[in-house]
Amino acid sequence: MAVKKKTVFFCQNCGFESAKWMGQCPACHEWNSFVEEPKEKSAAGGSKRRVLSSKPVLLRDVSAEENERTAIGMPEFDRVLGGGIVKGSLVLIGGDPGIGKSTILLQAAKLLAQRGKKILYISGEESLAQIRMRAERLGEIPEGLFLYCETNLGDIREVIETEKPDMCVVDSIQTMYNEEVASAPGSVSQVRESTNVLMMLAKGLGVSIFIVGHVTKEGAVAGPRVLEHMVDTVLYFEGDRYASYRILRAVKNRFGSTNEIGVFEMRGAGLVEVPNPSEYMLSGRPEHASGSVAACTVEGTRPILVEIQALVARTSFGVPRRTAAGTDYNRVNLLLAVLEKRCGIDMSSCDAYINIAGGIRLTEPALDLGIILAAASSFRDIEIPENVCAFGEVGLAGEVRAVGQAENRVREARRLGFAKVIVPKANMGSLRKIEGIEIAPVGSVREAISAAEKKLEKK
Ligand code: TYD
Ligand code: MG
Repeated sequence: MAVKKKTVFFCQNCGFESAKWMGQCPACHEWNSFVEEPKEKSAAGGSKRRVLSSKPVLLRDVSAEENERTAIGMPEFDRVLGGGIVKGSLVLIGGDPGIGKSTILLQAAKLLAQRGKKILYISGEESLAQIRMRAERLGEIPEGLFLYCETNLGDIREVIETEKPDMCVVDSIQTMYNEEVASAPGSVSQVRESTNVLMMLAKGLGVSIFIVGHVTKEGAVAGPRVLEHMVDTVLYFEGDRYASYRILRAVKNRFGSTNEIGVFEMRGAGLVEVPNPSEYMLSGRPEHASGSVAACTVEGTRPILVEIQALVARTSFGVPRRTAAGTDYNRVNLLLAVLEKRCGIDMSSCDAYINIAGGIRLTEPALDLGIILAAASSFRDIEIPENVCAFGEVGLAGEVRAVGQAENRVREARRLGFAKVIVPKANMGSLRKIEGIEIAPVGSVREAISAAEKKLEKK
């Protein structure tokens, strides 16, 4: 009788383990996500090693001092990390291929090495010469930056243990393999086990490790969701492949806020930080065109002004076409319905294309008013003066609702030279008068449209 090889099935989405194949994962309800993999040995990988001291301590005896942080020297990157790299933290950076994950990490490694840190850059994807070529493109080569091309995790572990760098980059987790796990590199159990080993190393030796992770078509880090649970920080590097700006976004951060973003621009010599994204996002706005309005969103603690464009045209088909580039499609449909019902604008016979210029993806409800104004402006073909901007959430009754950080938004608008800002009436209680900019409070979408289209008095 042939001995049957033992296998188990894993959900690729959440890592759920099952003895048999299933169409739908009972844990995360994802369809068709099970893959078959050889059963691991129970004493796999680094799980044997003890890392934390097993003695309980009194909470009041625990020092509240924060872990040691090292600023990289790229303010945009540091802010997303919550103020720098925490000693012994494990950070996962995900993103589409070619978006610049290796570039940003090499740049960070170089900056840290220049300040005397010992850095180990481990690559399973590129050769030494390729990395050297990239590093040359990014400027001079510092001391203290070690390269190591290897995919065997056993070797990597030994090197990290003997070299004890301050920071280590593992590019990418999908190329790493652990000999103790039978399945192929990139598979669920390999990725999970490799991350586990790296986590033990990070916590045990106090090395900060950055892991590069590839993303699937759906945009999640390939491999099980458990990967995101294991690491301290998950960052996504995103952006339009065809536009040069890139956004680094934290989606999980044990050491900081998760809604901070860092904005970069990919140039010929690497990534350059964009400290004033509003100016960048608003550059190239059309003059005297209907359907364009500036709106103010807040990402983390930073207000960003963006241009919202709408094109509303009579449809030649039975069902009108709608698209939403850079924002939520369903939200756009809802807002167009509000416009139709509450303002008597006949949207049902019109195609509507909404676009957040610059390719950035934003879903904050404070953009609602901007979307509505842009659509109404395009429909009526009445231009909104270019020095007017707006923010506010729109409800189903056509009311304009309050949003957070109103003052920050108004200040950012003033800084960029806007003359008038349309704000929700409900925000006026907390909004102080700000010199140099007219504040127009509105309670409904109708009021907002007339406030936006009103000619500004020349001062
Ligand atoms: P890379 O960091 O290799 O992407 P990832 O590791 O996320 O796959 O980035 C590669 C892209 O960046 C490639 O298309 C070339 C471009 N690039 C520049 O435009 N300027 C540069 O200085 C560098 C190093 C890369
Ligand atoms: Mg790469």
